[in-house]
Amino acid sequence: MAVKRIFQVNGKPFFPLGGQTHNSSGYNRAELETAWKALEALQANTIEVPVYWEQIEAEEGNFQFEAVEDILAGANEHQMKVILLWFATWKNGMMKYAPGWVKADRQRFQRVIGPLGEEIAVLSSHCAATLEADRKAFHALLGYLSEHDRERAVIAIQVENEPGILGSDRDYGPMGETEYARAIPNELASRLENGASPALQALWEQNGRRQGSWQDAFGTRGGEMMTAWSIARFIDEVAAGGKQVYDLPMYANAWLEWGNWRQAGLNYPSGGAVSAALDLWRSAAPHLDLVAPDIYIGALNDYRQACEAYTQVGNPLFVPESSNGDEGNPRNLFRAIAEYDAIGYAVFGVESMLDAEGGVRENSREVVESFHAVRAALPLLLELQGSGRIHAVVQEDLQYEQLIDLGEYWGLAQFNPGSRMDYEHNAVKTHGRGLVIQRGEHEFYAGGAGFRLVLRKKRSSLFNAAMSNAVEGFQTRLLNYVAVEEGTFDEEGRWRVKRRRNGDESDFGVWVTPDVGLVRVVIGE
Ligand code: DGJ
Repeated sequence: MAVKRIFQVNGKPFFPLGGQTHNSSGYNRAELETAWKALEALQANTIEVPVYWEQIEAEEGNFQFEAVEDILAGANEHQMKVILLWFATWKNGMMKYAPGWVKADRQRFQRVIGPLGEEIAVLSSHCAATLEADRKAFHALLGYLSEHDRERAVIAIQVENEPGILGSDRDYGPMGETEYARAIPNELASRLENGASPALQALWEQNGRRQGSWQDAFGTRGGEMMTAWSIARFIDEVAAGGKQVYDLPMYANAWLEWGNWRQAGLNYPSGGAVSAALDLWRSAAPHLDLVAPDIYIGALNDYRQACEAYTQVGNPLFVPESSNGDEGNPRNLFRAIAEYDAIGYAVFGVESMLDAEGGVRENSREVVESFHAVRAALPLLLELQGSGRIHAVVQEDLQYEQLIDLGEYWGLAQFNPGSRMDYEHNAVKTHGRGLVIQRGEHEFYAGGAGFRLVLRKKRSSLFNAAMSNAVEGFQTRLLNYVAVEEGTFDEEGRWRVKRRRNGDESDFGVWVTPDVGLVRVVIGE
């Protein structure tokens, strides 16, 4: 199935492979220095960096864009593309980046009222004055970019950050009460009748497939769903206003509901685009090009569930935040790309991947190496995602090999390959991971670490005997390689060979290590 590409550079599809800075790194040029170094070590092509409402409009109506200018200059100097993160009404379910004049005027910019009648430090999505002020500032930012981003470094904008309410499931003030008592919008009602996303449909069915108020339709999650609709509408207006002046791709990101983190307003911001609310967000916010999950999950099943949930209702998967190595599982990256056709991927806290001397920190090594493998394969991803010809190689604990169906061939990824590589490489014990890509019937690319790929024609009489102990046996020698090449793609997408392998270096399968980039294999008759 054709992949819905959202990001483009010079009118061509682009895969952002990115690093997100820490939250406070976008205020000035000096703070960004470490980020540029880390992005280069990561071989990223995109920086994700915040723009703060409190900074660009510290005084109402007086816009200052020096910090944005610094980001653009740095990006051009370091040849990175940019995804700007609009930290404004919402940042992680709170209002920390709203300007002081917004925080100070509680009459004009109304806050969420919690269930006990207490005011909490979150701006209410029902307040028209807040929407108007945020919309104006965002509009000014987009106006600045359309004029000053001459190199077109900025490829997309994230509108707000993990929006929602922390501290309540909804606004219990008068405006919120009125909304809560209303019937759910017709558009949503008809989506439910005609088949919504599995998560939303399940929630509605659990509550007896009822139409009516938010509570009627969604039971105890009625307040959360009402808030999701209201926040999504708010953000849609902000995005629509920005697109009027400069039509860039825009998206919202989500703090996930998963594992034990299930209570809206407590464990995650209520009204955010969690899986049950994705469908509702997509209907309420048509000016957003996608909704993106921040995935820090390590456990495979939960990771898969997240990818599955955010590829519903035509939403392409983009992962704007993932672990820089301190938690999670960097091997999952390959699954997102190969099995869920992720159209972009980034780590959070890129600066922390370097140690004080500027080297890659031990915890981040696996992530960095995995990014290198993806970077080498980017032209192939753009060409072949959605075709079923890209395969993730991922070694789970205790797993020693993985069989891959490659049309006329079987591919066996053997983990912990032992020796028999070449004079420069010794097998390092690491979790096997990477990609195997079948470009043509007899043409393959492999990249990653900790595995060797043994290819075998399905119709070969040698297959049965050879497969399980191929690396030790002589059978791999019998494969008729036309070429085994280490190399890279150049700017025009042409394959450039750095080194050929033959004889002893290819007789025991196609081994991959992080430093060789991609290995191309062509097999003859
Ligand atoms: C998710 C948020 O979106 C980021 O801004 C940052 O706060 C990270 N969590 C911290 O892990």
